[in-house]
Amino acid sequence: MDDVKPAAPTEPVARRDPIPLAERRRFTGMHVPAEGEGGLFTQSWFPIALSTEVPAGTIIGRDFLDGRVVIYRGEDGVVRVQSAYCPHIGADLSVGKVLGNRVQCAFHRWEYDENGMCVKTGAGLPPPPGACLYTFPVTERFGIIYVFNGYEPLWQIADFEYPDEQLVAEAFMSELYTCDPWIFASNTPDTQHISVVHGFKFKSDDPMNSIKWEPWGFRMKIDAFHQDNEDLAWEAGIYGSSTFLQQGTVDGWWLGIAAGFSMPKPGTHYVFISVLVRNVDVEGGKTLRERLDFGKFLLARTAAEDKPILDSIHHKVGYLTRADTALARYFDFLRNYPRAHPSRDFIR
Ligand code: FES
Ligand SMILES: [Fe+2]
Repeated sequence: MDDVKPAAPTEPVARRDPIPLAERRRFTGMHVPAEGEGGLFTQSWFPIALSTEVPAGTIIGRDFLDGRVVIYRGEDGVVRVQSAYCPHIGADLSVGKVLGNRVQCAFHRWEYDENGMCVKTGAGLPPPPGACLYTFPVTERFGIIYVFNGYEPLWQIADFEYPDEQLVAEAFMSELYTCDPWIFASNTPDTQHISVVHGFKFKSDDPMNSIKWEPWGFRMKIDAFHQDNEDLAWEAGIYGSSTFLQQGTVDGWWLGIAAGFSMPKPGTHYVFISVLVRNVDVEGGKTLRERLDFGKFLLARTAAEDKPILDSIHHKVGYLTRADTALARYFDFLRNYPRAHPSRDFIR
């Protein structure tokens, strides 16, 4: 891949004779499976809620993988995500209660422990032996709760170059996007759009020439000037089908971004974004508050620039050029990505 260079923007446009209408065909390449296709979803970490939405002792419901889950935080402070529908006769546990580290159904007061096992019925009879919820792997990073589609996580969300205790994070979420999460994730290896849509001026080489692939994703260097001439020295990467990581400097001060694309229903997602700065009073002449606000402004603006394109795209891989080399490889990565839906019978 190192010997592949994108077309220079000044390369002349070839004039060609028009193809007669009756001979025109739309070329499409190999299909990238949509989320939910064949009843399967990519096995990735998907954000599902902001940490602040689930204080200790509370429970909320969310759509996930075209089904429904509950997210609750017990008195031990740990967040758990389980299938929402009570195995008794299907009440939604999000209208129930958190008792200690258990969930109690509002309808007949059956109780489920942190492993999702029914441990008590309201009428005092022993719980049926098979009565249980599906319990998802969960992690909470930088103000965002992530859930893994599977029995065990296949990989972990990456750390930043500074330890967590040296960082300050603020998290927020976007409005609904009407495309699959991996379509937003595929924006990162699409380095053409980084300059066209987001106004980056790359200092020398196209960032895709620095790309380093790993078993579950990739990272690349972005050395560029941004729209208002901010001097960026960043590393950006994608892991799985749904998480984005970026770190590096803006005019000399450090900014980190951890973002995730959620999976409520096929063809939709929300973007959850953590903006991180170093926990020092002033860096690069900016206070901690100014750096956080700038990071949030930058990410909100970037996501808004992508939104009309992503909300209306009818994604089909067609003609790709050498400027799409990294994008093509990410599509291949997605074609081969593990897909499953072990919680299907519980959450629907
Ligand atoms: S439906 Fe939940 S206890 Fe009856
Ligand atoms: Fe973008």
